[in-house]
Amino acid sequence: MELKRLAVPAVTALLVLATGCTGATVQGRPGASGVRDPLFPRAGNGGYQVEHYALDLAYDPADGQLHGTAVITARAEQGLSSFNLDLSGLKVEGVDVQGAGARFNRTGTELTVRPAKDLKKGEVFRTTVDYGGRPKPVVDPDGSREGWITTGDGAVAVGEPVGSMGWFPGNHHPSDKASYDVTVTVPDGYEAVSNGQLRSRREVGDGRTEFAWHSPEPMASYLATVAIGKFKVTTGRTPSGVAVYDAVAPGEAAGSEAALKRLPEIVEWGGAKFGPYPFGTAGSIVMPARTLAYALETQTKPVYSGAPDELLVLHELAHQWFGNSVSPKTWKDMWLNEGFATYAEWLWSEDHGGVSAQRRFEAFLAGDTSVDDQAGGDWAAFPPAVPAGPDHVSDAPVYYRGAMVLHRIRQEVGDERFFDLLRGWAADHRYGNASTEDFTAYAERRTGHDLKKVWDVWLYGQGRPKA
Ligand code: ARG
Ligand code: ZN
Repeated sequence: MELKRLAVPAVTALLVLATGCTGATVQGRPGASGVRDPLFPRAGNGGYQVEHYALDLAYDPADGQLHGTAVITARAEQGLSSFNLDLSGLKVEGVDVQGAGARFNRTGTELTVRPAKDLKKGEVFRTTVDYGGRPKPVVDPDGSREGWITTGDGAVAVGEPVGSMGWFPGNHHPSDKASYDVTVTVPDGYEAVSNGQLRSRREVGDGRTEFAWHSPEPMASYLATVAIGKFKVTTGRTPSGVAVYDAVAPGEAAGSEAALKRLPEIVEWGGAKFGPYPFGTAGSIVMPARTLAYALETQTKPVYSGAPDELLVLHELAHQWFGNSVSPKTWKDMWLNEGFATYAEWLWSEDHGGVSAQRRFEAFLAGDTSVDDQAGGDWAAFPPAVPAGPDHVSDAPVYYRGAMVLHRIRQEVGDERFFDLLRGWAADHRYGNASTEDFTAYAERRTGHDLKKVWDVWLYGQGRPKA
């Protein structure tokens, strides 16, 4: 049973605000319980932005119990009498804010925290949440599973779109990006892998090993990951010096070898096409086959379910520029992730003896998607900038019609301006967030072309574009 200690003060605070009190004693008001995402209105929270997450996790694959301490450093964007975090399942054992015990209350996936003292606008404050239990996967509107996914002998955490609330409390919307330190303690003999750089690995006694991972660059919380299992680890560097860390389930090692061998070259190719690789580290996590129904571009180390092929590695690495460094402002901007990563596949193919992007575009236009064996579903079912609902953000139009939008721009402006646009977009929005409208305005400014017809027909237009 959860403590419901918040109820009375929250009601009082609301009444005070509702009666128009302007008294000096009232500094704060409740932060909003969502950021009004058009597709996932409850995702994220208002009133603050997180600067840093320090997650200290302990996991035992034998009983599936997770224990966590999340230290969340955030900046208040308004005076706050209370604020929310998103957390699904698990038991909250205690919350403190600025070192003082805080009241808290839970309703659905909202964890409401009422600090002992109101927070001032602009104040940087630290919240510590102790929590634990056996995490359950989050089932999203399209029926796919995210959050904490167990394997026979380990687990992996993936968060797109709303799964991260299944394993740590946070401001779970891509518009709030933060740096991370993730420390994981597991039984000796297991590996624990997360985003970024491995700072330390040490035996801490009691048959346990602790892994400390550090991600200095901003990261959207859906891109945070932890993988626990018995992995074969390979490290190296790309030619330009990016550290590479591959953790591969032993049963997938042989099957992954060819694609992962090309990872450094793919990172370099991306650097030449899209501008410098945005992060200090790269790599991969290959889980046993069928752990998930998809791969995910988790920051610096994409997660694969079974051995990936070269194009899948390319796709997930392309997301490091498009999606991870430049992140969508809302979930309806998902084509900025998937259209770009898909078009990167088309570009890689045309650079490596495959069919040209033009040929692929023409084949798709003519209804022949056999040039792309992944292209399940009708690419024309809806315009990519207007996904039909939260259950459609990973559908074919977001990927393929999204890629076709980029090819239409290339046709209009020519190769030189087009590639300058891709590089400029990645550079000017590096580590930030951008919306579809930001992109269309940027594309016209950068290329000096009026692209209204492309937007009207390809990006926003209902029906099947003819050319
Ligand atoms: N963003 C992932 C990719 O394109 C796909 C994730 C699909 N997730 C889902 N819940 N349907 O690589
Ligand atoms: Zn993708």
